[in-house]
Amino acid sequence: MHDGSGRIAVQNLTKQFGTVPAVQNLSFAVEPGSVTGFLGPNGAGKTTTLRMLLGLVTPTSGAATINGRPYTQLGNPARVVGSVLENEGFHAKRTARNHLRVYAAAIGVPDQRVDEMLGLVGLASAADRPAGGYSLGMRQRLSLATALLGDPQVLVLDEPSNGLDPEGIAWLRGFLQSFAKQGRTVLVSSHLLSEVEQMIDQVVIVSAGMTRYYGPLEQLRASQQSRVLVQPADANALVTALREAGVGEVQPAHDGRVAVANANVQQIGDAAAKAGVAVYGMEEEKADLEQLFFQMTSPQYAGGPLPPQQPVPQQPVPQQPVPPQQQPPGPPQQPPGPPPGFQQGPQPGQPQNPYQAPGYQQPGQQGQQGWGGGQ
Ligand SMILES: Nc1ncnc2c1ncn2[C@@H]1O[C@H](COP(=O)(O)OP(=O)(O)O)[C@@H](O)[C@H]1O
Ligand SMILES: [Mg+2]
Repeated sequence: MHDGSGRIAVQNLTKQFGTVPAVQNLSFAVEPGSVTGFLGPNGAGKTTTLRMLLGLVTPTSGAATINGRPYTQLGNPARVVGSVLENEGFHAKRTARNHLRVYAAAIGVPDQRVDEMLGLVGLASAADRPAGGYSLGMRQRLSLATALLGDPQVLVLDEPSNGLDPEGIAWLRGFLQSFAKQGRTVLVSSHLLSEVEQMIDQVVIVSAGMTRYYGPLEQLRASQQSRVLVQPADANALVTALREAGVGEVQPAHDGRVAVANANVQQIGDAAAKAGVAVYGMEEEKADLEQLFFQMTSPQYAGGPLPPQQPVPQQPVPQQPVPPQQQPPGPPQQPPGPPPGFQQGPQPGQPQNPYQAPGYQQPGQQGQQGWGGGQ
């Protein structure tokens, strides 16, 4: 039997589709009581990982477990884990209520639960309409109702915010957070950090099938570096003055300004005054999380070399997520934590200063589709 822990563990998971390395040596753990975001650009290997976790794809190597067991050994899995995967099909002519009844019968829950779930996801008034006429957002809600039928301890959602309007996303955020507060486990994937940022506590960032960062979202936020943009009368003189005074990390900008990281406006102002350089203005600028996310995953787009994978031999997956590493790729970091029986630890990501990212661009915003449309 499974251990009832509500814990998801992914250990050295690898999937090769022919010549495509979809997932490469991925390791992370998801603890109950929090919402974990599984983030990465399209093609990063999120869906493949979740399908391996749910027993729908056989790993090339490694393992994914829920409650200490592979999905296929969970007994009545619908009671342990509910899932919403991409492109879930519904019988077009079947109503939402009948769709749920079929599932309820299959997993052995009473019909009463069908109506409860329809109410919970806001589909009660559309329950007797064929699912074929549902909008994308309504189909997402019906998928979620299906996943919740068995009152599962663990919820796995693949890109659930796709097709939701802002109101739908806000609703989903509230729902997932209260679900997690009951001590349950939520793993939710997305290719857009901004869409899930408000609903997640932990984050696993993947790119090209490999882990880039694994840890609390707060820690990632805290790792963001701010800089001050200074408009001096003489940029060269200011650069020299700041470097000689040892104030911050100084970089001349193309527009005649000087960018200074790791220093505050007072330190910069004092050093400029001392050197007799006139300053006409200073502006504090903070990198946002989306920039950091894009920078961490952009090598996949750029086709450039990825930072080397760093094997952590004989290290366990830590109980507590590993904080981000600030330094450039170097020797393996030793994740802390007691050994829960794993061979290898996760590959903690290495967020760097996004201002230093070559070819950085703001990622495009995706268009929203209505969630309540088609009612
Ligand atoms: N059944 C499959 N056969 C061959 N390649 C696949 C298959 N499923 C996924 N892939 C490839 O694996 C990589 C990861 O895909 P996927 O897991 O869907 O990424 P994501 O969900 O992060 O967008 C992609 O290059 C994709 O084309
Ligand atoms: Mg996907």
